[in-house]
Amino acid sequence: MKVATTTTTTTMMAQKDTEKLLLWDHPIRSPSYGGMAAAAGPMAPSPRSRLMLWLILFVSATYVLYTLKLISTSKACGGIDSPFASSTSASRRLIASSSNSSDYFIGNRTESAGGGPLETHGASERTEIRHVVFGIAASAKLWEQRKNYIKLWFRPEDMRGIVWLDNPVKSGPGDDSSLPLKKISADTSEFPYSNKQGHRSALRISRIVSETFRLGLPDVRWFVMGDDDTVFVTENLLRVLRKYDYRQLYYIGSMSESHLQNIFFSYSMAYGGGGFAISYPLAVALEKMQDGCIRRYPGLYGSDDRIQACMAELGVPLTKELGFHQYDVYGDLFGLLAAHPVTPLVSLHHLDLVEPIFPDVTRVQALQRLAVPMKLDSAGLMQQSICHDKSRKWTVSVSWGFAVQIFRGAFSPREIELPSRTFLNWYKKADYTAYAFNTRPVSRNPCQKPFIFYLSNARLDHEKNQTVSQYARHRVPHPACKWKMANPEDLDYVEVYKPANPNLWDRSPRRNCCRIMSSNKKGSMGVDVGSCREGEISQAR
Ligand SMILES: *[C@@H]1O[C@H](CO)[C@@H](O)[C@H](O)[C@H]1NC(C)=O
Ligand SMILES: *[C@@H]1O[C@H](CO)[C@@H](O)[C@H](O)[C@H]1NC(C)=O
Ligand SMILES: *[C@@H]1O[C@H](CO)[C@@H](O)[C@H](O)[C@H]1NC(C)=O
Repeated sequence: MKVATTTTTTTMMAQKDTEKLLLWDHPIRSPSYGGMAAAAGPMAPSPRSRLMLWLILFVSATYVLYTLKLISTSKACGGIDSPFASSTSASRRLIASSSNSSDYFIGNRTESAGGGPLETHGASERTEIRHVVFGIAASAKLWEQRKNYIKLWFRPEDMRGIVWLDNPVKSGPGDDSSLPLKKISADTSEFPYSNKQGHRSALRISRIVSETFRLGLPDVRWFVMGDDDTVFVTENLLRVLRKYDYRQLYYIGSMSESHLQNIFFSYSMAYGGGGFAISYPLAVALEKMQDGCIRRYPGLYGSDDRIQACMAELGVPLTKELGFHQYDVYGDLFGLLAAHPVTPLVSLHHLDLVEPIFPDVTRVQALQRLAVPMKLDSAGLMQQSICHDKSRKWTVSVSWGFAVQIFRGAFSPREIELPSRTFLNWYKKADYTAYAFNTRPVSRNPCQKPFIFYLSNARLDHEKNQTVSQYARHRVPHPACKWKMANPEDLDYVEVYKPANPNLWDRSPRRNCCRIMSSNKKGSMGVDVGSCREGEISQAR
């Protein structure tokens, strides 16, 4: 109830507030207890004020009872798991009337307990990948190369998606069994486009939501848009979508890393390459007005700002989820990936522009390497944990499934949780004022250059039921260091033990904890990663 997400809920709350206001602003101007005291007091009340008093008491009692009922029902709703309530006819009616949201808030108030962004346990089963339809923006010119990014994450046997192209393309061997359906976008030459820097293809790409909607696919809860160079971690996409009620209007995505991009476009716009999700009823609303809306903004640059302009007309704000990554940067993504925000990794984009995320392999090979940890524990992928080796005076940062860093000296978590500036901004400059978030300078002290260990291997230890991932030291020359302390160069690899935790995001966000293990193997260090224990903190000294 706290989070008023629809206009109806807001109106309802407002009504209640007015009720409260009337109650408290009543001419007697005393709280109800005071009123009771007055009744028992020596001054004999007149029959008129007694009537007034009864009236107030009656209204208060009704209000309290109503509130209590509301609270108790919403609690009951929250506690019940999906299989139960789905059988009641009331909830079936809910689904049926999903296009008429006022219906299910005013018609049956108790049901509105499920109306927040939390997953509604009241009405239906969990959102699965079959409830999602992907709309992928692609162009014939880049198709041969870009299709390989789509093959990395798309599984035709259990996913639905359409690649929208500008021109027909030839199918290569195995393409049809590993890629979404291909369709040619409708002609948009009659739509106005007047932006000097941009390209008309923005119109076509913007309309992918509507065109995908018009295919009339059954049982769709979410339309998820992406580019041909977007890689989704679909398990995590689902984890994020499940937080929201697909029967309401949601526009979910994230901004650009580039402050200037966000100023030129908007901080409230979902950048298309990072991917964004539109709930079914929002797609219904958008489809009705999108063509008209697009005509009203011929001067806009791209497809995603056109979507945002229509969202603004609909009055639906962007719900920001920081796991969608536009990656408007150049150079090495390492700093960003090694300090991912505490939220599931949903997407990666602009993989053509940045260096391969693992050294000495191609871009596609690098992403293929991520597939192994993704399969073992998608929820934990790229999640950072920070711990300290007290005896060797090192700081250790694990980005699970990707890399481990060892720093000489004690760094506090508030430093290490910031992305280090390994990347350049959107204008190919090393300017830290260019980002919409804090970053950490690369240390100038030769002793503090981190030792990086990249994922080399990952498997499941069936006996202990935990993942074992191995990270090999990136062999690059390090500057000489005169500090008298253990040298991380003595290590060839780091081994990380972590139980898979598919439920990591079902609780409040918290970084995992890590602990240095007393390892016997020469040249290696063992690190244990998992949920923090009672009282466990990451303390530098
Ligand atoms: C929505 O509810 C209103 C009021 O109850 C009703 O008049 C209207 O027909 C409903 N619309 C749909 C599509 O069910
Ligand atoms: C609200 O739903 C409950 C079942 O969840 C039902 O018993 C009750 O009659 C409904 N009330 C109205 C006003 O529809
Ligand atoms: C192994 O761990 C996973 C995730 O923590 C859990 O879901 C599963 O039930 C466990 N399996 C066994 C055999 O204990």
